[in-house]
Amino acid sequence: MTSKQQSGSVQWQSPSNIALVKYWGKYGRQYPRNASISFTLSKAHTNTTLNWYPKQEAQAAICLNFTFEGQENEAFASKIVRFLDSILDEMPFLVDYDLQISSGNSFPHSSGIASSASSMSALALCLCEMEALLAGKAFQKNDPQLLQRASHIARLGSGSAARSVFPIAAIWGVHEAFEGSANDYAIPAGHLMAPIFHTFQDTILIVSKAEKEVSSRAGHALMEGNPFADLRYQQANENLVALMKAMKEGDLDQFISLVEAEALSLHALMMTSTPSYLLMRPNTLAIIEKIRAFRAATACPVCFTLDAGPNVHLLYPEKEKEQVQKWIVAELKDLCEEGYLIEDFVG
Ligand code: PMV
Repeated sequence: MTSKQQSGSVQWQSPSNIALVKYWGKYGRQYPRNASISFTLSKAHTNTTLNWYPKQEAQAAICLNFTFEGQENEAFASKIVRFLDSILDEMPFLVDYDLQISSGNSFPHSSGIASSASSMSALALCLCEMEALLAGKAFQKNDPQLLQRASHIARLGSGSAARSVFPIAAIWGVHEAFEGSANDYAIPAGHLMAPIFHTFQDTILIVSKAEKEVSSRAGHALMEGNPFADLRYQQANENLVALMKAMKEGDLDQFISLVEAEALSLHALMMTSTPSYLLMRPNTLAIIEKIRAFRAATACPVCFTLDAGPNVHLLYPEKEKEQVQKWIVAELKDLCEEGYLIEDFVG
């Protein structure tokens, strides 16, 4: 039987990631205006299964049956059909099959955690394995070529998803200081950092479970009119070099200073866009002040970063876990919506 006539099934789990140097601003077909780096997480992930069956009748359109957490979901399904349509130049074989995709997250959908990085990377990995199987290629899960291709396809769905296919950490966006870096796909970066960062903890403090006030698509678009945009892209590229030096040397003070500055820059960009957005909530600020006070009082190297929303990612070395988690329960948990938090870690 030729591979074209075969049915098949693949399954991938892929995690979310948290950027340390932020990607905010894009152009063309999801190309980043500056290079970024993120930690790959563990607990917040998406599981996706893709089944395919040869079509009975030729049809030049995507045929998809999609379920999210066991239920049909029209909104997600049409988003995925749009995405699959948009990559037909890359994967024309998709119209030859009836596709069945089922997906689910390890975290509640309405938890204020962006799921596009984990969901798009899990889907991209499934699509790339399908592509390899149809081409009759031997398939290895850690094949660098497969991961690069998956990172490229994930990027077309959601820019930051390009970074989720690599363990520990990934850099995305071309930068002269990082060999092999590219706008098309991310590259692994765990080997560029001291071991202390390979087991870093990220407690995600859910200040609000509400949907994001502004979608990242709209947020990126606002950068086009932002008066600070060019300076920002330059700053991010400089911060990346300084951060990677600090991470290579295990310099936690420098790490903390750069990571917090990056988070605040992202929010400052939203505050200076037209229209402007205040993405922090009062409890976001209260948590940030508590983090800084705790660090000053104990010298414990905890710091925060933020996504384009109100939730706080609290970052700290694994060896501080006991002390930090006691403090979280005592002082931070009550500032989270219904005390909700996710104890994640680099993975
Ligand atoms: O991948 P997008 O288009 O959802 O953009 C994500 C942007 C940030 O999460 C705010 C920053 C980043 O680099 O992940």
